[in-house]
Amino acid sequence: MGEGISIMKLLYLLKKRWLRWNVRKASAGDAAAMNRLYLFEDPWGLNTTGEHFRFQETARIIRENIGDHFESILEIGCGEGLQTQYLAPLARYIVGLDPSSNAIKRARARGIANASFKVGELTSYAGLARGSFDLVMACEVLYYMPDFEEAFEKLNKLGSACVVTYHRGVFESLDNFFSSKKVISETIRGADCDWRVVYWRLREPEGRPSLDSHVRILS
Ligand SMILES: C[S@@+](CC[C@H](N)C(=O)[O-])C[C@H]1O[C@@H](n2cnc3c(N)ncnc32)[C@H](O)[C@@H]1O
Repeated sequence: MGEGISIMKLLYLLKKRWLRWNVRKASAGDAAAMNRLYLFEDPWGLNTTGEHFRFQETARIIRENIGDHFESILEIGCGEGLQTQYLAPLARYIVGLDPSSNAIKRARARGIANASFKVGELTSYAGLARGSFDLVMACEVLYYMPDFEEAFEKLNKLGSACVVTYHRGVFESLDNFFSSKKVISETIRGADCDWRVVYWRLREPEGRPSLDSHVRILS
């Protein structure tokens, strides 16, 4: 019995180390490591109370400030579709995009009625027409992209409005990047982590007041 427990513990520790190693590589832009991570379910530890609070709060901020009846949402870096469940009620249809085929398989298995999931990344959609989606989301993903400016331009091209979130660990670099942009930001304060929600609108839908009046540049 005691031996059984120690083997389980050893396997657990090995898995933890392996995940940490791949997260490090994935964070440095290694696409293969990013996909390898999804050999295990929920490799980023997103199915937790804290992260579900972030999903809930992000959806609330969108509803209160940008809209709650979108024709279309594009969710870049949707992973296993955990956040998609919170975004789907805001749109007629939502497209989730992730480079990991394993993640996309699990996202599809959730059976979200108005969602479709595709393997791909931000650059895969570069050929689409300007403003193809009412809202483009990039949550906890921008900091894996090597060139923020290029990613920002691509988001701007695809969406009439955009939302980016990032966690406290990367506040410095991304706050600095957004400080020169016309965006609005709010902070979600969780029990164990804080997240910045940065949003902006490029084309005003009919009947909605311009967001420009309360644009706040991050400092
Ligand atoms: C930390 S998870 C975030 C998942 C989800 N968006 C959330 O906020 O909980 C990062 C996700 O981004 C995906 N990803 C990494 N680089 C990407 C890229 N260039 N384009 C699209 N997705 C990417 C990863 O495969 C992973 O599923």
